[in-house]
Amino acid sequence: MGQLDGKTVVVTGGGHGIGRAYSERFGREGARVVVAELDEAAARDVADNIERAGGEALAAPTDVASWSSAQAMAERAVERFGGIDGLVNNAAIFSTIPIARVGFEQIDEGEWDRVMEVNVKGVWLCCRAVVPAMRRRGGGSIVNIASATVFNGTPIRVNAIAPGNTLSEENPSLEILRMREAAVAARSLKRVQRPDDIVGSVLFMLSDAAAFITGQTLLVDGGTALH
Ligand SMILES: NC(=O)c1ccc[n+]([C@@H]2O[C@H](COP(=O)([O-])OP(=O)(O)OC[C@H]3O[C@@H](n4cnc5c(N)ncnc54)[C@H](O)[C@@H]3O)[C@@H](O)[C@H]2O)c1
Repeated sequence: MGQLDGKTVVVTGGGHGIGRAYSERFGREGARVVVAELDEAAARDVADNIERAGGEALAAPTDVASWSSAQAMAERAVERFGGIDGLVNNAAIFSTIPIARVGFEQIDEGEWDRVMEVNVKGVWLCCRAVVPAMRRRGGGSIVNIASATVFNGTPIRVNAIAPGNTLSEENPSLEILRMREAAVAARSLKRVQRPDDIVGSVLFMLSDAAAFITGQTLLVDGGTALH
């Protein structure tokens, strides 16, 4: 018995590197593996390996940054295996281009755009492509591959303020007003949140009073989320 017996799992970027290891292991665990990979030869090689080892696999040449390509991949997976149960969003270009090795102020704008297209938009497009098939199955599991790098410190102070549902409109319609007021029910501090409620936290982060605080996210939401 494998841990993924009978499940169809899509691995984006499954033809090389860590993605290849996911694909081949899932194949040994009984999954029908869809190797959704830009490099067609690599996708075929991995799929052949899985089948030679007694598993089932589909080589699906895919550009995750293209909606028509992601959609075609999902359609082929459903056609071949009858549905989709899992998606691993692993495809990325970060490690193969200079962006990873220069300071942020030297990043080329075109490279930034391409990373956003593949690493960020690609995740959304693949989710959008497979979720209808997962819903038809009654559920599914999506795993996005992130990076430990995002938790590393940087040499300048960078913090985030996360405001709650705020009455920011100058002339709110009745509908907007009702939507803002409805958020009060989920809040510990029972009133509508206004722009002035957020200003103090930004002021604090800019000031020397916050000189030793970096890499933090401060929720300013009247206690909607407590942690
Ligand atoms: N290697 C590391 O040190 C490391 C560390 C943390 C996180 N990660 C993450 O793990 C994942 C795999 O990393 P890796 O080192 O194996 O990367 P890799 O560069 O070796 O493999 C990425 C794969 O994605 C494919 N790919 C690239 N663009 C694509 C596209 N548009 N459509 C479909 N496939 C595409 C590539 O052909 C390749 O097969 C990535 O998400 C990466 O960010 C890697």
